[in-house]
Amino acid sequence: MKFEILSKHLETVSTDCLVIFTFEKEKGDLDLIFPAGKFGNLKDQIKDGIKFEDFKGKMGQVLNFQTYKKILAPKILVLGLGKKEEFDQNSLRDAISILSKKTTDNMASIALSLSELANLVDLDRTILAQVVSEGILLGNYNFFKYKSKKTSIKTFELVILSELNKNSQLKLREGIKLGEIYARATIVARDLVNEPSSLVTPLYLAKFATELAKKKTEIKCKIYDKEEIEKMGMGAFLGIAQAAGSDVMPKFIYLEYIPKNPSSKKKLAIVGKGITFDSGGISVKTGDSMQTMKMDMAGAAAVLGVFSVIEQIKPTYPVMGIIAATPNLISAKSIVPGDVVKAMNGKTIEILNTDAEGRVTMADSLSFAVKNGATEIIDLATLTGACMVALGEDIAGLFSNNKILSEKILKASESSGEKVWEMPLTKEYKKLNKSDVADVSNIPSTRYGGAITAALFLEEFVDNKPWAHIDIAGPAFAEKEYSLGPKGGTGFGVRFLLNLLNS
Ligand code: BES
Ligand code: ZN
Ligand code: ZN
Repeated sequence: MKFEILSKHLETVSTDCLVIFTFEKEKGDLDLIFPAGKFGNLKDQIKDGIKFEDFKGKMGQVLNFQTYKKILAPKILVLGLGKKEEFDQNSLRDAISILSKKTTDNMASIALSLSELANLVDLDRTILAQVVSEGILLGNYNFFKYKSKKTSIKTFELVILSELNKNSQLKLREGIKLGEIYARATIVARDLVNEPSSLVTPLYLAKFATELAKKKTEIKCKIYDKEEIEKMGMGAFLGIAQAAGSDVMPKFIYLEYIPKNPSSKKKLAIVGKGITFDSGGISVKTGDSMQTMKMDMAGAAAVLGVFSVIEQIKPTYPVMGIIAATPNLISAKSIVPGDVVKAMNGKTIEILNTDAEGRVTMADSLSFAVKNGATEIIDLATLTGACMVALGEDIAGLFSNNKILSEKILKASESSGEKVWEMPLTKEYKKLNKSDVADVSNIPSTRYGGAITAALFLEEFVDNKPWAHIDIAGPAFAEKEYSLGPKGGTGFGVRFLLNLLNS
């Protein structure tokens, strides 16, 4: 798949089809966003044609027209963008992505112009081009690696943007490049989530991080093995990892991006939950609820996705990537309810349910971030089913002790199209995490407000540093096909994190 910017009007571009946008309208003539150029009576023919079809310009809706040699391209596709009042860059990303899934054999190349849209909707051409490239690349994503019958899906080979203005061309080029970076990083995360846990073990993640750092001078990587994890005093992480024992050794993964000339004293830590498979442990899950639990490392996958492109985004401050990787399994060596473990920051945790393992491993990851001088911490974790009850499958829960940080995250996610909703870190609920025997219990005394009590548990380990926790249990894994991709890992979090690093 290649993008090309051409200094030509669309009607003179040699391509399989032109794509023309339209906003949705219930009644009357649609507002076709017709590009500049000589289209003769094609414009009227298309307008007339639309009247005879059930085509309202709804998001992702496509209508096909032959051009009968009136212009160079044999076909024009009219693509619906949804309602104009609701339009933003996320609508364009979705619409283009849906279109890219409908690619057929005679659509190897498409051409479009963003100028008219840019003038109508007050969005920068860089952003428009970025979401076009993201939409096409993410919409074409699939995971067919384990299908023995080779299923290939059709993709555009060439996407041409027509733009005559030199300055605008520069913007488009920049946008396309950013979109490619964002999509590539998202796909890294999707693949890691979609691979089975038999492949994506802690060692696999560790090797992945090591390889990443090898290729880039700005990135350092250190992998801590079990003995070193012990030495660091990570009793909580080790408690969860002990069931797998020597069959699947835990790995503590530390990545650090160091800019050439840091501009501030800021040091950001991005922490990802890295449970490579969550069986629930001794507090075993049901068969059904275990089916997708290879996705319990989606937070870690997002961290690795970000680090796979971070040197191209060039944040001006150091960024740490932190992952405690282990499966949560069952064996004679399993941690059991009633056991007490001690985290790296000295706090003791009573384990009352081994299926609340994520927060226990994160206790050590967060303590490590603090100990390593993080001035700001963001964690991503597929932490609670309760967050899905609260916000559904598409929306992540955001919990933060710092207004400035949470605002930044909300803004970054608004433009990435990843839905995030802020939830309260209600102090009064802290007592629900009390333990009779240890400093804190790994499950609260009530199941109500489970996403909040889980976040409050994590807060015990951030030492009052500015911190935001994002519970991605819902959106990390799509249970059905959606506009930007197929069923499976979504790479959720990668793009808003990149927005954050890029601002
Ligand atoms: N990994 C799960 C949370 C989860 C559930 C993620 C569904 C994605 C989809 C987590 O480790 C877990 O099992 N949490 C328990 C906590 C409970 C025992 C307090 C839960 O949510 O039921
Ligand atoms: Zn669990
Ligand atoms: Zn889990």
